[in-house]
Amino acid sequence: MPENRCLQGIWSSPWIFIFAAGGSAVGLGNIWKFPYVLGENGGGAFLMVYCLCLLAVGLPVLIAEVSLGRTVRSNPIDTVNDLSERNLLHSRWVIVPWLAGITGFLILTFYSVISGWSMAYLERAVAGQFAGLDQSSAQSMFDTLLSSPGEMLFWHSLFMFLVILTVGQSVTRGLSTLVRILLPALIIILLFLASYSMLVGNAAEAIDFLFRWSWQDLTFDVVLAAVGHALFSLSVGMGAMFAYGAYMSKRMSIARACAIVVGVDLLVALLAGLVIFPLVFAFQIDVEAGPSLTFVSLPIILGALPAGPFVGAIFFLLLVIAALTSAISMLELFVAWMHEKYYIGRLQAATMLGGAVWFIGIAVLMSFADWDSKLIFGLNGFELLDKFTTLIMLPVVAILLSVLVAWALPRDMLQKELITQQVNHFQWWHNVLKYISIPVMVLITVAGWIGV
Ligand code: PHE
Repeated sequence: MPENRCLQGIWSSPWIFIFAAGGSAVGLGNIWKFPYVLGENGGGAFLMVYCLCLLAVGLPVLIAEVSLGRTVRSNPIDTVNDLSERNLLHSRWVIVPWLAGITGFLILTFYSVISGWSMAYLERAVAGQFAGLDQSSAQSMFDTLLSSPGEMLFWHSLFMFLVILTVGQSVTRGLSTLVRILLPALIIILLFLASYSMLVGNAAEAIDFLFRWSWQDLTFDVVLAAVGHALFSLSVGMGAMFAYGAYMSKRMSIARACAIVVGVDLLVALLAGLVIFPLVFAFQIDVEAGPSLTFVSLPIILGALPAGPFVGAIFFLLLVIAALTSAISMLELFVAWMHEKYYIGRLQAATMLGGAVWFIGIAVLMSFADWDSKLIFGLNGFELLDKFTTLIMLPVVAILLSVLVAWALPRDMLQKELITQQVNHFQWWHNVLKYISIPVMVLITVAGWIGV
């Protein structure tokens, strides 16, 4: 089948999509956020529900987003406009890609600040500052960073500079080469760190915490956190995968590619859990420590390793690059749109958008620097943006997008896009999306809002 053209280019090999989408999915969400959300939500119960959510919600919605992107091979905004016109749908559907783009944009404002922490820790690792850290010195190292707005601003600015430079490139260059090496390297390093951590830490208690199922731990908050994190971790609901779908080769089965992305995403998150928790229990760190979990417990283990500075530097370098490949996907939607619609150069578009993200990010890092100053609804800037995007924007966009795909668009058009010779589970996917994913997302999101 000849490939129809896409203004931004098409990835030469079907596998590049998997690496790029995997690069977007695997990020701080897996290594930094997953362990602490799991810790706050009771371990095994969260993991079980999370796996279910990946299968019943994350995967079907991911497939929907990617197929939507590949149908028209344009940026998400023009794609929805085009599809609405062709299928006589209401033109207001275009609000969905707009909201998606705005969600990605807002997430990047705090994602960049946290990525900046990773860069700061990369510097500390190279300087050998992890050696001999114990629980209290590791904690105070993290607190010192959080109370230094100047240092956070420096790293946040450097990170956004890198994001702008990378997104500014064409999608067929830079990114694809980077992720091909990066993702396997990240998995190998994590495997190594997890083995070490299980050897020196309390592996039995960690495994028990991660995999023990108990009905008592299963609360509504756990389910809510699991759905939210499944969407966040797979990068769905913010147009990143929608935009990447447009560059995917028609030779690749969307269902198979998405299933691989989900598998890799879960694997990396589990490995991160196996790095963190054996230490958390061995050093008696509070499992409910929240965002500081990775930045406090990991340096302790790295400091104890014989090749600590080296392994630490590699680990944080990979974390920064993993964050970078996620961050660039958050800007792709608007950059592609500005480039295709207004012929603005990619670098110029990335600079404008990235500059705005950088500016809002300053407010976020100030809220960390003065952690106790609660601003609105008892939440500081970071908590507010995090909750607003992951608990409200993300599910709303994911629901609207799924309704568009499952109910509004003609079935045979999707069928043509999705069915390849290799995999043919169209009916199955369509029904799960319609009758499981959408109702589950609506129910849980609304119940979460009214505080059930
Ligand atoms: N999935 C990424 C992670 O786990 C975060 C992300 C969100 C990436 C939104 C792109 C878009 O870190």
